[in-house]
Amino acid sequence: MSIPLFDTATPLQALRPQLHERLAAVLDGGRYILGPEVAAFESELAAYVGVRHVIGVANGTDAITIALRALGVGRGRHVVVPSFTFYATAEAIVTAGAVPVFCDVDPGTRNVTVETVRAVLTPETAAVVAVDLFGAPAPCAELRELGLPVLEDAAQAAGASLAGRRAGALGDVATFSFFPSKNLGCFGDGGAIATDDDDVAELARALRFHGSRDKQNFQYVGYNSRLDELQAALLRVLLPSLDTWCDGRRSAAAAYRAAGLDEYVGLPETLPEALPAWHLFVVTHPRADELRAALAEQGIEARGYYRTPLHRQAAMARYAPAAELPATEALAATNLALPMSPVLSAAQAQEVVAAVAAYGLGRRGLEG
Ligand SMILES: Cc1ncc(COP(=O)(O)O)c(C=O)c1O
Repeated sequence: MSIPLFDTATPLQALRPQLHERLAAVLDGGRYILGPEVAAFESELAAYVGVRHVIGVANGTDAITIALRALGVGRGRHVVVPSFTFYATAEAIVTAGAVPVFCDVDPGTRNVTVETVRAVLTPETAAVVAVDLFGAPAPCAELRELGLPVLEDAAQAAGASLAGRRAGALGDVATFSFFPSKNLGCFGDGGAIATDDDDVAELARALRFHGSRDKQNFQYVGYNSRLDELQAALLRVLLPSLDTWCDGRRSAAAAYRAAGLDEYVGLPETLPEALPAWHLFVVTHPRADELRAALAEQGIEARGYYRTPLHRQAAMARYAPAAELPATEALAATNLALPMSPVLSAAQAQEVVAAVAAYGLGRRGLEG
């Protein structure tokens, strides 16, 4: 593909010498699990996000499971979650022993709103999971006013902010994924939990280590879910570049708009005070898959996400909602992620828009 969907390699080029140096230092140091690199990365990410605590875990899915349990969301309790997100968001609720209750999203921001959450609240509801989908922050402050704990799934939103607060500091607790293609991606699996709540942090720390605080006494049935020293050491090299990379993503989004993309497809909307981190730049089109194929012919990679929403996945059949989720269904059918990366140039954005426009002209020809 001449323009790939992601470009994870180019932004790392300049950092390769530092990455190699840190890799060698960890290998030579011989500490691989919960050592000084994880502790330092946790403090550095906490300072960046603006929270008191960060707890490194094995991946973003475990982060949600452990964070829910640390919030006290116990067996059989109900947790509201959007159906339009990656499967892991709901899967982690079930792994925690709780029951996912699927809600709809706003068609413009693609995120949950107070209204879509309120529509499915019951006396059983114990928490709300709000996903900062595609890197656009969800309205967590408003959701917290509903009086329930809010878990912010910031897996896709590292580097975003809302009203001056960073993604990861918007809920009662937040979770990150460092999956390689994410905005802050490591070199394998990795994740983290962020919170200002001392008790939630303390319990999450125990849960990631088999439910123990001292490796001798085991208070809970927990998990073996730690961020590796190697990954933490490398993430420490990447974190200082996150803001520059997100600026690059926002410039690419601006270039798409400046090239007139909105004439041909539906563009993502964001909350008024949001600074999105555009993990993915997802547009809508009534013939999204046909448009994807037309772009592929021009060497441009695009991808539809979450075509089958979570409430219709086989593993979630027992949690299927009684009511329809119309915005979810429409987005699942019509969304298309266009190339996005910190280094996507204005010229590349113009090339993509020209290809989208050419597809539109071709269709008009067919229909006319
Ligand atoms: C919204 C969302 N939540 C959770 C996850 C799970 O993260 P991980 O793959 O690190 O387990 C991901 C990404 O994979 C995601 O995109």
